[in-house]
Amino acid sequence: MKQMSVDIPSESRRAGPVRVDVASDRGSSANITTRRLAPSDSLQEITTLLHRAYAKQVAMGLRPLAGRQSVDITEKRVFSGECYVAVDHEAPVQSRTGQKIVGTILFHEVEESKGPPWFEKPEVASFSQLAVDPDYQGCGIGRMLLDLVESRARDSGARELGLSMAEPDRELYEFYIRRGYRFVEFWQWPYTNYRSAILSKTLAPKA
Ligand SMILES: CC(C)(COP(=O)(O)OP(=O)(O)OC[C@H]1O[C@@H](n2cnc3c(N)ncnc32)[C@H](O)[C@@H]1OP(=O)(O)O)[C@@H](O)C(=O)NCCC(=O)NCCS
Repeated sequence: MKQMSVDIPSESRRAGPVRVDVASDRGSSANITTRRLAPSDSLQEITTLLHRAYAKQVAMGLRPLAGRQSVDITEKRVFSGECYVAVDHEAPVQSRTGQKIVGTILFHEVEESKGPPWFEKPEVASFSQLAVDPDYQGCGIGRMLLDLVESRARDSGARELGLSMAEPDRELYEFYIRRGYRFVEFWQWPYTNYRSAILSKTLAPKA
């Protein structure tokens, strides 16, 4: 298992842990919390989670980076932004943390490839690499991770939160629309075989 080290800035401590009881479709209540990626977390575990979560898009003939990236690419990506994870405290695991990583999201990834014009606007923050383990989907973990990053984006001063998604995945599109996102523009990344839809949500000002 590849391990990593990372400085955890103060804003990440403010961001977590968020503790909720999630009614799971596995017939029991799973104890899931979200937090910033920690030095003891396994990047292999996160890479495997990404491959599992994006397998549905791969089965559609799409080639999302997260569905096939190496551990080295995961490492490069999570270090380029702020990575958060959702963890199950009750699942039997042998990791150093004693927690199973069941979801992840990456706030403010800095990419080498040129991004869509929308992401360059000063008032727009963005996230990427959102994934929930298929065994845990439909329990609200995706919503938890979005809430966390929306709050983080608001705290950073952003007025919009953007994302890039595979245009052919209509189910995913509806998932975001139900959460207040809207279509902004199309974008073609050099490493995918599909057109991406750029969506964005206007963030309500802090109360
Ligand atoms: C998109 C994704 C992160 C959502 O995660 P999630 O934890 O399932 O999300 P939630 O549980 O908060 O919401 C799932 C929705 O599907 C519904 N649902 C019900 N049963 C479900 C099931 N078995 N599996 C998935 N969703 C289910 C939920 O009720 C919910 O509906 P709602 O939108 O009306 O609230 C997850 O499906 C995923 O990892 N997809 C693959 C990777 C991907 O496409 N990432 C986004 C890239 S831009």
